[in-house]
Amino acid sequence: MVNAERFVRDAVEEIRKESGGDRVVIALSGGVDSSVCAALAAKAIGDRLVPIYVDTGLMRKGETDRIEQMFGHLNLDIVRAGDEFLTALSGICDPEEKRKVIGERFIRVFEREAKRTKAHYLLQGTIYPDRIESEGGIKSHHNVGGMPLEMEFKKVIEPLRDLYKDEVRDVAGALGLPREIQHRMPFPGPGLAVRIIGEVTPEKVAVVREANAIVEEELVDRYVPWQCFAALLGLGTGVKGDNRVHGWIVAVRAVNSRDGMTADPVEIPYGMLAELSSRITSEIPSVARVVYDITPKPPATIEYE
Ligand code: XMP
Repeated sequence: MVNAERFVRDAVEEIRKESGGDRVVIALSGGVDSSVCAALAAKAIGDRLVPIYVDTGLMRKGETDRIEQMFGHLNLDIVRAGDEFLTALSGICDPEEKRKVIGERFIRVFEREAKRTKAHYLLQGTIYPDRIESEGGIKSHHNVGGMPLEMEFKKVIEPLRDLYKDEVRDVAGALGLPREIQHRMPFPGPGLAVRIIGEVTPEKVAVVREANAIVEEELVDRYVPWQCFAALLGLGTGVKGDNRVHGWIVAVRAVNSRDGMTADPVEIPYGMLAELSSRITSEIPSVARVVYDITPKPPATIEYE
């Protein structure tokens, strides 16, 4: 286990040294990793830090407003790039390809913003399991393997590269970040796109976003899982009124894990699952079926793509 106080001292020093007096852009997502990075960098380089939040159009319900409230005081630059991401994703069904497209879009947005703000460095909250899974070819992490090589930054600084998630949470505590951030569920960089099987369309994003909000509302505080969410599996047959219809199949996933590298499904009581099914199908009429995913990791991953 890392010594959080010592880590903070060393990381602050590292950021100061690596950035050499230049401005540094950070991709702030509101998750614990990037929030810890931003807090370290704010200590290290003060207003040479340029925090940017990209609304990719693949964010959770209410997320952009929440981030604005939480980080507005840091002079946060909110880039609304939903159309740009969704257009780039149009027609793409292959999971790896999706990740690459999203990773590339992210970098392009950041290059643009870096140019505008005259920043030459990029700070990222990549943690140890992200690197291992990318290096092992398990998946392209949007902030590692999905990154196009012809980036225009002098350097990418990754102060959390050797930490596990629980260590990052300890560092968040040492930095005095709010509990809400310290204990936030992980949310993947490519966002809701990896919770949609096949092509990402605005309609599918809207359905999975709504279903996800219901799942979080019902499960987060009651079962305190490492992660819980909804995913969109595809279309299936259902019955509405007297008619057979095509409707979306939504999977509910809730897992416990230490570091995201392995995970076990949470034993949600049947009554709660029935409540989820009933809420999701009645509040989102285009959903015809809800299933609960009981697969551990391995063999399944936590996310769907
Ligand atoms: P998987 O699906 O690979 O996920 O079992 C393990 C953990 O990593 C998160 N995850 C990501 N986080 N960028 C991220 O920042 C990504 O590209 C990414 N893909 C998966 C996932 O939510 C889980 O906590």
